[in-house]
Amino acid sequence: MAEEVSIIKRRTVDNHILAIGGGKGGTGKSLLTASIGICLANRGNEVLLIDADLGTANLHTFLGLEPPRIGLSDFLTKKKSGLDRVIVKTGISNLKLISGAQDIIGIANLPYGQKVKILANIKKLDYRYILIDLGPGTSFNILDFFLISHCGILITSPEPTSIENTYRFTRSLLFRYLRKMISQKVVRSLIDKGVMQRGGHKFYSVFDLLEAIEKIEPGLGDTIASYLSSLDIKLIVNQARTTRDRAIGQKMAMAAKKYFGIPIDFLGNIGYDSNVRKGLLQKKPLMAYFPHCKAFKEITEISQKILPRYQLGLDFSTELKVF
Ligand SMILES: Nc1ncnc2c1ncn2[C@@H]1O[C@H](COP(=O)(O)OP(=O)(O)OP(=O)(O)O)[C@@H](O)[C@H]1O
Ligand SMILES: [Mg+2]
Repeated sequence: MAEEVSIIKRRTVDNHILAIGGGKGGTGKSLLTASIGICLANRGNEVLLIDADLGTANLHTFLGLEPPRIGLSDFLTKKKSGLDRVIVKTGISNLKLISGAQDIIGIANLPYGQKVKILANIKKLDYRYILIDLGPGTSFNILDFFLISHCGILITSPEPTSIENTYRFTRSLLFRYLRKMISQKVVRSLIDKGVMQRGGHKFYSVFDLLEAIEKIEPGLGDTIASYLSSLDIKLIVNQARTTRDRAIGQKMAMAAKKYFGIPIDFLGNIGYDSNVRKGLLQKKPLMAYFPHCKAFKEITEISQKILPRYQLGLDFSTELKVF
């Protein structure tokens, strides 16, 4: 018998949270968080950027700002009582920033309690779009920030190492998502063994895991597969230089469907553009300094495809409880 599945939607404010991540460092996550944020703000949306690259926060640089005096650290050390108290202006209308926490030693290994506190407070912020810039890697901190989003955007560069890390990130994300959302003990322990790759369970793909769940609980693996297929994950290939590079995104989306059973929505390519560096050296956001450059045009087109999804579909923020 298939388990009963109940979905609990807890959305108190009408914000749309987008997490920007992807596993590999230096692919352009921060550049794109800042630039997409500027595009959305220019279209009249209230936008908040959050620098969650704990320890090596630099999102402010892509906005042409010096490190702000207040940021996440002040919230974590209780100098400021609410997340809304550490929001700063960016000089761009409709666009605000919560700067990262960089002056606390060991902050990258955020204690669980602090992480829960930040995540719960982000959900309450009343902005049309909240964009969270994540650091590299697949640590639980990073995955959990991704999992409070309504939509996750993966950024990869066309290099094989980056593509590999993006797959690894997606796999870790799905296992973490299932681990958090499924309360049934026997299935949870199966997922744990799969994540740790111990006890003889080596799930190379999410399908392997679902097959194993199906054996324990006929029908449950299929049910979970159908929920996974409605998650909102998008992909951008950044720093593309060749025609071959520009074909990678579609191929990755097809591979994700095949191996993970999730539809990844490929948003498009952004070419390598030397103006990005020039803008940084001039301490100006790309869009302000080079509004006619190719990267800017491609980012603008991509940002137009990002729309809030106020429908009943499942997203990462949905609690999936399997009893
Ligand atoms: N399309 C592009 N063309 C040229 N340079 C780019 C492009 N995208 C990003 N860069 C450059 O690549 C470098 C890394 O970008 P960025 O800091 O946004 O990456 P990141 O993924 O946030 O890195 P990290 O994982 O370290 O946080 C920066 O110097 C940036 O200027
Ligand atoms: Mg970054």
